[in-house]
Amino acid sequence: MAEFTLPPNSKIKKGRHFAAEKGSANLRQFVVYRYDPSSGENPRMDTYEIDMDSCGPMVLDALIKIKNEIDPTLTFRRSCREGICGSCAMNVDGRNTLACTVPADSIRGDVKIYPLPHMGIVKDLVPDLTNFYAQYASIKPWLQTRTPAPPDHERLQSKEDQEKIDDPAACILCACCSTSCPSYWWNSDRYLGPAALLAAYRWLVDSRDEATGERLDDLEDPFRLYRCHTIMNCTNTCPKNLNPAKAIAETKKMLAERRH
Ligand code: SF4
Ligand code: SF4
Ligand code: FES
Repeated sequence: MAEFTLPPNSKIKKGRHFAAEKGSANLRQFVVYRYDPSSGENPRMDTYEIDMDSCGPMVLDALIKIKNEIDPTLTFRRSCREGICGSCAMNVDGRNTLACTVPADSIRGDVKIYPLPHMGIVKDLVPDLTNFYAQYASIKPWLQTRTPAPPDHERLQSKEDQEKIDDPAACILCACCSTSCPSYWWNSDRYLGPAALLAAYRWLVDSRDEATGERLDDLEDPFRLYRCHTIMNCTNTCPKNLNPAKAIAETKKMLAERRH
């Protein structure tokens, strides 16, 4: 019979509580996933009380304050603080998102923060993205051409053709979509997932690219593409409002049209 309980060493325990200084008026509690695989200890949830009067408004501001002033052992990724780099992707209040774009006061009650789900954990809020990046590399995310470039100018596109790649090219590879996709959770070794498939689509519809046939050949596989069952979690969660589910559907359509 199937067993649905976690193995004992994966159970999340109650962690430490870091109280704010006395006299703090505008308190919020941040409950944060902590895990150090090298310690041999179970994951735990640590609780940090933060005086929001002395903290920036975003969830990432609170994490930075925790690291700088309360607990330097907390580990997370971040860079731009502007929703551009994708580094601070994590699960905040049950949703995969960019911590730098979520105001703490948009969340009711304690702010619960976990790493992106169903990934190996390097430490705390840092998931192992090795496979995710390898999948991105596997779709050959660069312009492939056979004809020589014009001698006196770049390979030009019409405005309409450029508009076809505007959205898919805006992906910041944050991995929020792929890690929200049930098909990716169960088959991330063989299914490319919505982020890599959106990137593949971006090159399929680029009017300058001359490897469309080979790109479609690479995707025509029961796992790499067809594990998408149009569950739509990816599009619902994308913090850049992109639509990987539609790109995947369009790719399937291109393959179907090629067969006829
Ligand atoms: S639409 Fe496809 S890629 Fe997006 S969440 Fe669903 S199964 Fe995953
Ligand atoms: S499609 Fe959206 S959620 Fe997915 S990696 Fe790109 S920016 Fe992130
Ligand atoms: S820090 Fe760059 S997207 Fe959040």
